[in-house]
Amino acid sequence: RVAGPCVMVMFGVTGDLARKKLMPALYDLANRGLLPPGFSLVGFARRDWEHEDFQQITYESVKEHARTPFRETVWQQLQEGVRFVPGEFTDDAAFDQLAETVRQLDHERGTGGNYAFYLSIPPKFFPTVVEQLKRSGLSDPGPADEAGHTPWRRVVIEKPFGRDLETAKELNDIVDAVFPAHSVFRIDHYLGKETVQNILALRFANSLYEPIWNRGYVDHVQITMSEDIGIGGRAGYYDGIGAARDVIQNHLLQLLALTAMEEPVSFDADSLRQEKEKILSAVRLPADLAQGTARGQYSAGWQGGRQVVGYLEEEGIPADSRTETYAAVRLSVDTRRWAGVPFYLRTGKRLTRRMTEIALIFQRAPHLPFAATDTKELGKNMLVIRVQPDEGVTVRFGSKVPGSAMEVRDVNMDFAYGESFTESSPEAYERLILDVLIGDPPLFPRQEEVELSWRILDPIEQFWAENTKPEQYGSGSAGPASADAMMARDGRTWRRL
Ligand code: BG6
Repeated sequence: RVAGPCVMVMFGVTGDLARKKLMPALYDLANRGLLPPGFSLVGFARRDWEHEDFQQITYESVKEHARTPFRETVWQQLQEGVRFVPGEFTDDAAFDQLAETVRQLDHERGTGGNYAFYLSIPPKFFPTVVEQLKRSGLSDPGPADEAGHTPWRRVVIEKPFGRDLETAKELNDIVDAVFPAHSVFRIDHYLGKETVQNILALRFANSLYEPIWNRGYVDHVQITMSEDIGIGGRAGYYDGIGAARDVIQNHLLQLLALTAMEEPVSFDADSLRQEKEKILSAVRLPADLAQGTARGQYSAGWQGGRQVVGYLEEEGIPADSRTETYAAVRLSVDTRRWAGVPFYLRTGKRLTRRMTEIALIFQRAPHLPFAATDTKELGKNMLVIRVQPDEGVTVRFGSKVPGSAMEVRDVNMDFAYGESFTESSPEAYERLILDVLIGDPPLFPRQEEVELSWRILDPIEQFWAENTKPEQYGSGSAGPASADAMMARDGRTWRRL
């Protein structure tokens, strides 16, 4: 899979995402020989930079964050196509200059008039930038050439896709007015992770799991994304957004959809998205939101051997903020396969450790022919998809403890990527950027999915805003007590972090 020649125009090059993920991903793609010849990158930002300054910034970010080893020849080749255009988003002349720069690149580097616009910027700037792309003619691929070839335009947008259903629709209308739906690539970087793509391989490339992947065998499902970091320097983005909008609306609902969906007829984008959308539209909220949700906010504490401040003491956070940094919810999926099986989703910052997993917890064996005392340690069978950091799959089951008695204890059977594959996993952004350049859409949620996810979240957010204040939990802990109580009411417990 190799992309054709093109230019990527990146807005928001001074941001964290560009520095830590996007530019290193481009280098890693180049290093793996996956970028097209002549590939060019144009940065656009409100900085008084020359091309060389931007090249230097890109160099530093690659040196610090790229996954693959640094090779001078690869870097030299990449940097030949790196340009910078300074300007404000409202500045017509700067966008005309941008248009001039990419056309020059077409001429000098044979990029064929194909442009991808990466909007790594806060959504409040979308209207202006999209309008400027239109005004300057950049969004228009123009007529086909004599050979019938029309250059392509693609636009990449990062979450947040709004802060509720209404704003998500408004945002979409803005982009939709200029770019046709097939040219819009919405990034949910979780879908770019190897382990997430493997959910479908595990389920549909094997015959072992699918027969038990349903309400007949599964007691409940736990989807966890826990982080040890705080909000870092992201107060401006995070406050007023919170854990549920930041993570549940996108990453966790996507994981739920992949775990619960039916087999798609094929792996093309439409079939895949259709099956995910069916699940998202079958998701039901708990009847009592006070009992079926929990939210928390981290307080000061010790983590990883150092003292950390609480959310309310973080720079830029108002002392009376009610934004949650932890959120948990019990959802159900009203389909024949999943009726009566709760899906528990939780995410939080400043928790015990960084870990994302999907755990299917199976029902107990209907009858145990052993004395109760011999099986006291016996839990439920589980299948755990370890998304990160220790990527792999664990199957947990009871086994006889060696010895003269018939004692049974739970044991793990593990598959670890590092042991089974010599191939290294590409970083999520590498995979997704390559798909954009190729024009391959299956890993990008479409607007319907975004809207269905907001439909799930909006009533929860509204309930929280009117009725609750997040409960404090200590940094380094496993989250607020109310989240444990929520599970306990159902006679269950969270898996240990
Ligand atoms: C982002 C969220 O989408 O995902 C962040 O905005 C979060 O708050 C990040 O830290 C986590 O990504 P990963 O890949 O490190 O699990």
